[in-house]
Amino acid sequence: MIAGHRGALALAPENTLSGIQKAIESNAKWIEIDTQLSADGVPVIFHDESVQRTTNGKGNVSDLTIHELGKLDAGSWFSEEFSGEKIPTLEEVLIFCLDNDININLELKIHHPYQAVSLVEKVSEVITSVNFPIQKLILSSFSLLAMQHCFHLIPTIRRGFITEQNPLPLIEDLTSINLYSIHIEYKILTQSLAQTLIKSGYQLIIWTLNDPLQAKKFKDWGVELIISDRPDAFIDI
Ligand code: G3P
Ligand code: MG
Repeated sequence: MIAGHRGALALAPENTLSGIQKAIESNAKWIEIDTQLSADGVPVIFHDESVQRTTNGKGNVSDLTIHELGKLDAGSWFSEEFSGEKIPTLEEVLIFCLDNDININLELKIHHPYQAVSLVEKVSEVITSVNFPIQKLILSSFSLLAMQHCFHLIPTIRRGFITEQNPLPLIEDLTSINLYSIHIEYKILTQSLAQTLIKSGYQLIIWTLNDPLQAKKFKDWGVELIISDRPDAFIDI
């Protein structure tokens, strides 16, 4: 199974509705997107701490209101074709994915530890208000703290820990929050690590694999989901 990374990173501006649309057109059943809070506490879909790289604005997402973020162009930096593309709210994306029957791996972006509780609370409110089916959702984060808050506040929603290192030294902490999945950088995954993690009860998700020729190997190792910038390249896998 394939998940479009940040929508479909190579095909459209990241974390936008157009990117998610590209993933859908590529036949992906999943998307991976990032969320964080605006200054006035609205979960938006955005990767970096600052808006500089992927919009025509300046400053940090957490210092800009939803009104200010809503005025930014999040598409022109990628190409003219996408000029005027907006930063979507989590609510808009959940509704869009519901309408298109797409599963979501929602990454909670924690740029500072104090952001974890409020982000989990607000994300939980939006999921509830939209009535998004939790069987179509995995929450994940590089932040163990965020996943601990998810375990305590919204335990019924599946949780995954993202890592670019061997997670075994953290296994006690991971076990204590009853995770569903480990989301591991594909370059550091070995067959033996895959076996150990699967035996320990975790689903394996890898990122960010863009070479479809490697997909079979990872599938044979038991990987459940491949996050890719090029969901269209995996069409026949
Ligand atoms: O969720 C896996 C992957 O998205 C983590 O890296 O920086 O693209 O959010 P990043
Ligand atoms: Mg991400």
